[in-house]
Amino acid sequence: MIDSDDAFQTSLSAYAETVEARLALLLDGATRAGELARPRQLIEAMHYGALNGGKRLRPYLVMESTRLFGGDEEAALQIGCALECLHSYSLVHDDLPAMDDDDTRRGKPTVHVKYDEATAILAGDGLLTYAFDIIASPETPVPDTAKVALVLELARAAGIGGMAGGQMLDLAAENARPDEADIIKLQAMKTGALLRFACEAGAIIAERTVEDRNRLRRFGEIIGRAFQLADDLLDVISDPITMGKATGKDAAKGKATLVGLRGVDWARKELASLVKDANGVLNPFGEAAIPLKEAARFIAYRTK
Ligand code: IPE
Ligand code: IPE
Ligand code: MG
Ligand code: MG
Ligand code: MG
Repeated sequence: MIDSDDAFQTSLSAYAETVEARLALLLDGATRAGELARPRQLIEAMHYGALNGGKRLRPYLVMESTRLFGGDEEAALQIGCALECLHSYSLVHDDLPAMDDDDTRRGKPTVHVKYDEATAILAGDGLLTYAFDIIASPETPVPDTAKVALVLELARAAGIGGMAGGQMLDLAAENARPDEADIIKLQAMKTGALLRFACEAGAIIAERTVEDRNRLRRFGEIIGRAFQLADDLLDVISDPITMGKATGKDAAKGKATLVGLRGVDWARKELASLVKDANGVLNPFGEAAIPLKEAARFIAYRTK
């Protein structure tokens, strides 16, 4: 790895520590105002599903997109943690027997293996709803109008027209022959939408113009596409120890991926071209956008 990659890794790990410390607080066993109880098995499974490792890339993007616009850092941390709860829920459900049926996630047994299927379903439900609780909470220092915008954008990124819809299309595609455009759309939904939200969130938190929001949104869409392409590439070329999850599973399950359709060499070239496009979108921001550009590079060339 070259030096800038090492520097990025160091900065990502520092962010990850901060995010994990906050997630541990948010997911402790203490009942909050307005809650009747935090059933022990459920909060433990939610804690396990969110605090079992992970790169914490989405919170990094929320925090760096906020920093780009001089927005509030504490707000960015809270919104980053909300998004990480929602992302973790998507992984807990993605791994369920009825979906991808995976036993290992982030190098550890998946939530339904460690606990049981019903607990994993409920832990996912709990993490999904908690994301919106964190955004709306008085403890999150974001003006109410911006909170409403964050709730709306995250709901749209996570719901029928975003991640959940994309997961439906992903499962349906196991028994169909989707073309390239179909795959690009399903991936933009299942993976791209949450990354798009991560980038746009900074502009919302800092109450920037529609133009700035749209620029960050565009950047997020491009890196979202790169993210799933890299995930699908790593499924072919990496190994379970490095990835902390099974590999070779897309071909085994008949998943529709661009790597399957166009091959490994094409995917590598496409990743390089996506990084270039993503960087181009941020050029108007000059040097302030370097941390986000480094994230784009990491997403495309990561090894896990
Ligand atoms: C994995 O996401 C799921 C996909 C969208 C491909 P990440 O690769 O960000 O997983 P963690 O959070 O680092 O475990
Ligand atoms: C997952 O895509 C996308 C989600 C919405 C969770 P994958 O099914 O390829 O993710 P991994 O490979 O299991 O992490
Ligand atoms: Mg899946
Ligand atoms: Mg999966
Ligand atoms: Mg995958």
